[in-house]
Amino acid sequence: MVELRSILELIDLGELFAKPQPLEVELGCGDASFLVEYARQNPERNFIGVERLLGRLQKLDKKGRRIGLENTRGVRIESAYFLQYLLPPQTATALHIYFPDPWPKKKHRRHRLINEAFPALARTVLAPGGTVFLRTDDVDYFQQMTEVFAGVNFFGKTETLPALVEITTDFEGEFNARGIPTLRAAYQLL
Ligand SMILES: C[S@@+](CC[C@H](N)C(=O)[O-])C[C@H]1O[C@@H](n2cnc3c(N)ncnc32)[C@H](O)[C@@H]1O
Repeated sequence: MVELRSILELIDLGELFAKPQPLEVELGCGDASFLVEYARQNPERNFIGVERLLGRLQKLDKKGRRIGLENTRGVRIESAYFLQYLLPPQTATALHIYFPDPWPKKKHRRHRLINEAFPALARTVLAPGGTVFLRTDDVDYFQQMTEVFAGVNFFGKTETLPALVEITTDFEGEFNARGIPTLRAAYQLL
């Protein structure tokens, strides 16, 4: 877990990681089974897990230490704030957002992370050709995700590679075990 020196300045990625490698970010990484396994399989990349709940971030820390992960850091902060104010522009090759809180009640939908403002926010932090990977169980939220990305001309639809599909998240495992399928989409910067 990383203690940020300031939440008013961009983070220094050179200070955060031992090796300067391509960076991928998971927003709302939860108990982090996905992130830990994905990072283990890809030691030539660096990873940041963003999560607002301390207990969940501690799980990332614990799991990472257990297997000696050196390419992964956890930051406890709100996801949109992290993208807007802390992650340096054009530094992430991928953003992973898996099973974000669905806020199913109509009056709460404004709290959803993937909203009309999100594609532009993602564009500022993604490196050229970078990709946003999305998964959810929520049909209504999935529709919102596809609509907001269809509404901009700087992202195009792309595929999620089988190697990535195979690594499931904690929530995904629980949903799939109950027969609830994963809805998946990916968008690449044009
Ligand atoms: C439904 S869980 C999914 C966790 C994980 N991605 C998975 O699929 O197992 C959503 C997670 O996102 C975190 N979260 C929700 N909104 C957030 C926000 N705005 N910023 C940071 N974390 C957030 C929650 O605390 C929770 O751990």
